[in-house]
Amino acid sequence: MQGSPAWLYDEFRGFALDFHDPHQVEHYEARQGTDLEAETQLVRSLGISKKDTLIEYGAGTCAFVEAAAKICRQVHAVDVSLAMIEFARQRLRKLGLTNVAFHHAGFLTYEHRDEHASSVITKFALHHLPDFWKVVALVRINRRCICPHVLAITFYGRRCAGELRKRNATPLRLLPC
Ligand SMILES: C[S@@+](CC[C@H](N)C(=O)[O-])C[C@H]1O[C@@H](n2cnc3c(N)ncnc32)[C@H](O)[C@@H]1O
Repeated sequence: MQGSPAWLYDEFRGFALDFHDPHQVEHYEARQGTDLEAETQLVRSLGISKKDTLIEYGAGTCAFVEAAAKICRQVHAVDVSLAMIEFARQRLRKLGLTNVAFHHAGFLTYEHRDEHASSVITKFALHHLPDFWKVVALVRINRRCICPHVLAITFYGRRCAGELRKRNATPLRLLPC
């Protein structure tokens, strides 16, 4: 992590699956079985509209980002894996979605330079950080990085939005203090 202090947890290393390997990313995407309808429902459940800017941390292959980009003004897809970013970039380019900015960064290193985001989401990514650094990540998102109206963190099963529907649940929402 060039330019980062030595004490900072290196979030670019150390997850179980090798998300830096393009073949693993393809396998991951195939296994996931993208459900765009479910992702769109998740976007809508957050109350996001045309005027909104949204950030997804750990965006992966960007199924949620794709759904969100069709609805809101601007999406920032943040991920520590260049292979994930490259896969997603090509996919969204083919769809002609031009309102997505990709950032090779993570919870602990992303610096937000666009207008304040109205929503921040992360799903199936925060668990990659050790517990102490999860707290740092949440504080950072809330206090230093941006001012989210809604921070939706989902820890549900693989098909996130589908699970939410089944359980009649809503994502955890943390409001700014
Ligand atoms: C299991 S995938 C989830 C992808 C997507 N959010 C989804 O729901 O399909 C986890 C993603 O988190 C990313 N990731 C891991 N640690 C991260 C960190 N510290 N900051 C941002 N992204 C991270 C990985 O590169 C991977 O793309």
